Amino acid sequence: MDNETLTITDNRTNQTYTVPIYRGSIRAMDLRQIKNGADDFGLMTYDPAFMNTASCQSAITYLDGEKGILRYRGYPIEELAEDCSFLEVAYLLLNGELPTQDELDNWNHEVMRHTMIHENLKKFMDGFHHDAHPMGVLMGSVAALSTFYPDARNISDAKCRRKQVVRLIGKMPTLAAYAYRHRLGLPYIYPDPELCYAKNYMNMLWKRTEPKYVANPVLARALEVLFILHADHEQNCSTSVMRAVGSSHADPYATTAAAIAALWGPLHGGANEEVLRMLDEIGSNDRIPAFIEQVKQGKRKLMGFGHRVYKNYDPRARIIKRVAEEVFQVTGRNPKIDIALELERIALSDEYFIQRKLYPNVDFYSGIIYQAMGFTPDQFTVLFGIPRTVGWLAQWQEMLVDTDKKIARPRQIYIGEDARNFVPLTQRGKRQLVTA
Ligand code: CMC
Repeated sequence: MDNETLTITDNRTNQTYTVPIYRGSIRAMDLRQIKNGADDFGLMTYDPAFMNTASCQSAITYLDGEKGILRYRGYPIEELAEDCSFLEVAYLLLNGELPTQDELDNWNHEVMRHTMIHENLKKFMDGFHHDAHPMGVLMGSVAALSTFYPDARNISDAKCRRKQVVRLIGKMPTLAAYAYRHRLGLPYIYPDPELCYAKNYMNMLWKRTEPKYVANPVLARALEVLFILHADHEQNCSTSVMRAVGSSHADPYATTAAAIAALWGPLHGGANEEVLRMLDEIGSNDRIPAFIEQVKQGKRKLMGFGHRVYKNYDPRARIIKRVAEEVFQVTGRNPKIDIALELERIALSDEYFIQRKLYPNVDFYSGIIYQAMGFTPDQFTVLFGIPRTVGWLAQWQEMLVDTDKKIARPRQIYIGEDARNFVPLTQRGKRQLVTA
């Protein structure tokens, strides 16, 4: 409804204020008029983790955490994962509509034409130590792209923005594959634009001396589905970073590198790597109850469980569970799936998890598939970052043309010392050293 309002009484002054309600929210700036006196700054809201603060308006992804619903541009994730290619979904996220056949053909061609990276960037990647974490390599090399494309700074030009979007989506699998092969000391494989997005990535990862690498179609499809599921997830931590850094008008490569840094954290995309380590540590079903006990005592976290928004089964985890079975038909069963299934069964029937509405999230099962396909755990978050680049860029573009958007610059509640007089060094006396 258009003219809904909220009436607030300030009990400090007995004054009443009426503020408009817009799409179930009030504008924080409308609270500024609520003052306790002429010198008062005005009321603010305090929400350090954005628990109940909308930082933007977005038309890209819809998520209902209570009902376990996820839609891209209105389309249910289940249907997109069933019927689309990853680049088709990327087109949808970036442009708002599913492509026609011609549009898709052009888009595929355009992205795949930008999969090559500059030879100097290869040399730059060579400089990383042999055991550098692939996420560190990805973050560093994406940031380095900004030095290759200085035109990217022209973020107010829509044509220029689009060019960087295509470049980034095209180059991400190449950078990821080079990071992988660098680690193993294998020669880099040039991209093959004749292949689809996932098969080209697999080719760059796993081609050896055979004249033509042929990707297993079941594994290639599984990778496409996993990419689709990870492509966007509205205002998650890394996307919020993308928007915040982008709001300073930094170029999209520097901005994407910042988003990669956020994704790497174990509470966000880094969780898929942690889940595998956790399953390794648990080792067998009989050790699950003791592990769960530690979680309930607050000594550990059940990685891959819980979500800020989902208070129901993460629909992506449901799809991933099904994909896992398809992958195992090809690779053989990863025994960790049985530990994971039992862990889920025990957790979902335990009061601790029920009360807190903790369900498996996207990271709980994805690593088990990646491992079965031959990836090492330190590659898992890279596999999240490749498709999430599309979501980051869609949200970045949306943010830049949003007339409401200004540089992200939160307020704080100052809790430090009041003004005090400076004490010269010679008059400061002695203080006992505190060692950590
Ligand atoms: N294991 C054990 N307890 C948990 C877990 C967990 N995985 N997640 C939340 N809790 C408890 C938490 O201790 C708290 O309990 P209490 O009320 O007694 O203090 C309660 O549940 C609420 O948790 P919270 O930390 O306030 O919730 P949040 O919304 O701030 O955090 C989260 C969300 C995803 C960071 C958190 O659930 C978590 O750390 N999960 C494990 C890491 C993980 O799997 N991350 C991937 C998230 S999904 C994909 C992505 O974003 O990349």
